[in-house]
Amino acid sequence: MEKQQLEALLKEMSLEEKVGQLFQIIGYYYVEEGKKFITGPDSGLNLSDENGALTGSVLGLQGAELSKKIQKEYMEHQPHHIPLLFMMDVIHGMKTIFPAPLAQAATFEPELTKEGSEIAAKEATAAGLHVAFSPMADLVRDPRWGRVVESFGEDPYLSSCFVKAQVEGFQGSDMKAPGKICACVKHFAGYGGAEAGRDYNTVSMDSHTFQEFYLKGYQAGIDAGAGMVMTSFNTIDGIPASTNHHLMRDILRGELGFDGVLISDFAAIKETIAHGYSENGEKAAENALRAGVDIDMMTTTYLDHVADLIQKGVLKEELLDESVMRILELKNRLGLFENPYKDADEEKEKELFLCQEHRKTARKAAVRSFVLLKNDGILPVDTEKKIAFIGPYTDRKEMLSSWAITGDAKDSVTIREAAEEVFASDRTVYLQGCPVLTPGFGTAQLRLEVEEEPSEEECRQMKEKALKAAAEADLVIMPLGEHFKESGEAASKANIEIPEIQLELLEEVVRVNPNVAVVLFNGRPLDLRKVSRLAKAILEVWLPGTEGGHAIIDVLTGKINPSGKLPMSFPYCVGQVPVYYNAYSTGRSDFKGCTDHFRSRYLDIPNEPLYPFGYGLSYTEFEISAPELTEDTLSADGSLEASVTVTNKGTRQGTETLQLYIQDVFASVVRPVKELKGFRKVTLEPGESRRETFRIDETMLRFLRGDGTVGSEPGTFRVWIGNSSVGKEFEEFTLL
Ligand code: GLC
Repeated sequence: MEKQQLEALLKEMSLEEKVGQLFQIIGYYYVEEGKKFITGPDSGLNLSDENGALTGSVLGLQGAELSKKIQKEYMEHQPHHIPLLFMMDVIHGMKTIFPAPLAQAATFEPELTKEGSEIAAKEATAAGLHVAFSPMADLVRDPRWGRVVESFGEDPYLSSCFVKAQVEGFQGSDMKAPGKICACVKHFAGYGGAEAGRDYNTVSMDSHTFQEFYLKGYQAGIDAGAGMVMTSFNTIDGIPASTNHHLMRDILRGELGFDGVLISDFAAIKETIAHGYSENGEKAAENALRAGVDIDMMTTTYLDHVADLIQKGVLKEELLDESVMRILELKNRLGLFENPYKDADEEKEKELFLCQEHRKTARKAAVRSFVLLKNDGILPVDTEKKIAFIGPYTDRKEMLSSWAITGDAKDSVTIREAAEEVFASDRTVYLQGCPVLTPGFGTAQLRLEVEEEPSEEECRQMKEKALKAAAEADLVIMPLGEHFKESGEAASKANIEIPEIQLELLEEVVRVNPNVAVVLFNGRPLDLRKVSRLAKAILEVWLPGTEGGHAIIDVLTGKINPSGKLPMSFPYCVGQVPVYYNAYSTGRSDFKGCTDHFRSRYLDIPNEPLYPFGYGLSYTEFEISAPELTEDTLSADGSLEASVTVTNKGTRQGTETLQLYIQDVFASVVRPVKELKGFRKVTLEPGESRRETFRIDETMLRFLRGDGTVGSEPGTFRVWIGNSSVGKEFEEFTLL
């Protein structure tokens, strides 16, 4: 449709029809057999048939046949035959599930995320979807917060690269094109800063930190052309985001330039009453519409009040028209007026879902997301040796994240299934050893459908068998970790160690056989002090997705050399949180060898995380020379180059991730001790050396200055190029 046709359509719409476009409901309200996804509190809506006939969009419903059926019937009743939008949480895959976003960030390869998002979009649109509620652009520094699993970690630059990649993978250059879907950047804004890491909790941070760190990811998604943004549950400056006029009008639509559809998070408009901001539903509706929130997800706050507010003259109809037009424009960008079913196609579903090509890409992404945290020479394993796989993830399919709601764990490849393709059956045993969760915790807290708590006697027998097998093995591989529901929404944890029952098993196995390699499944950085003390090797595999088992065996056997790097600091213990690499120096920074008492340090633990941002080992060794700069001054319109020579000193091919960090040593506001400004993966054969160069220019040095403007400032800058955020050797240059 042309713009003037949309404007003509808008003019013809009744007030009730326009308000209906602002309402979003779970798709199963239309059909009994619709698969029901409640991803928030089900407030038990009491809808009239007319409400249902005028709704603008649905969420949580998938399937070509079902969506086409709903769309057809809906449009027959819609007075102007305006099509529904179908939206869904497609976070890291549709049916072929990719590694969780935090794991994807560990690849330091945004192009892999773009590739995976393209695949997710093809599968999702075949299933009748038009919008994916993804990427999550929330910066996270607190692993207690369960949704860290959906994030791209603690660094604004790394996060931005992945948010951009996901939007581009989903939308391409034209979201109307076959296999393309609208992206929805979320949660605007600052949701990852929840105090104490407790989900939905208050966010209170200074505006400088908010702008310099937390806003960058959303900006990247908007600059990449995301068609939608979703509000967050939290307050910013004491005002709930969904009714925060300054945040949404001045910052989101003003400074960041977003002109697409803004949808509330689940019931977030109505919840501004519970926040103590809107006195009632009518005020909530007024506040949210004034803030420019276009769609009310899963409550009838808009449905119940917007028409009255306009008829009473409290709100101008133009405000409503503005939101309706944005929704009509989005439907138009997706081509739904010409083709309301877009790519919904049962045959395409069969052809695309979990096809070998998609599985292959998911396996590649998983392999590259794994981070080798420790290896005292026992990995890769010799498949001819006597191996015992012992641990609750040995033969467990539930290795997707709690947001892989469109996927199915039964489609996953377990470690055992993959290992049996490679390891000699007469010399390999597979034992669970213990349950994932410590009995007494989990069934209620994690809303587990099936009772997963074995009896005490069953646990005793499991452990007894495991210890016997461990004693007889040359090497024990222990797939351990969190239950996949211990991270994700409403899954914050104060204790960030692996379940106690698993730590006990690890301790007892090590007593009978010290040659233990842990394969770690988790959706957040963990306190790994005990695991790292006990195990000789630790391979971090996060929540690896459908092809997890194959990817893990590829790396354990050395078919693939691990190359992942941590996108988030792993704290020494939870008491250290928040700990992140790009912190300020303070006036009394601590440092090795410092004996002064009055320093910023703990009495009982170190300041440094157990494993730092950007860290990850390989099966080979790399040597990186000190950085060399082509100039020691940089003019505003010039550039300089920073180079290192990286050498593979080991005996096998490997990939190192070179990371460029820069520090602005003095400025009108304090600056982080270092900031990631570039990264590059370099694959080298044994003995091979290569000179790698990064270009540095003034644009990379810009920040929110003390006078509130954004730009660079002349002065001294330090440059590191290393294989983690802990590099020591730097060079300096002066910006003129
Ligand atoms: C949830 C989540 C949000 C999701 C939405 C729809 O509460 O906060 O990320 O997209 O509801 O399921």
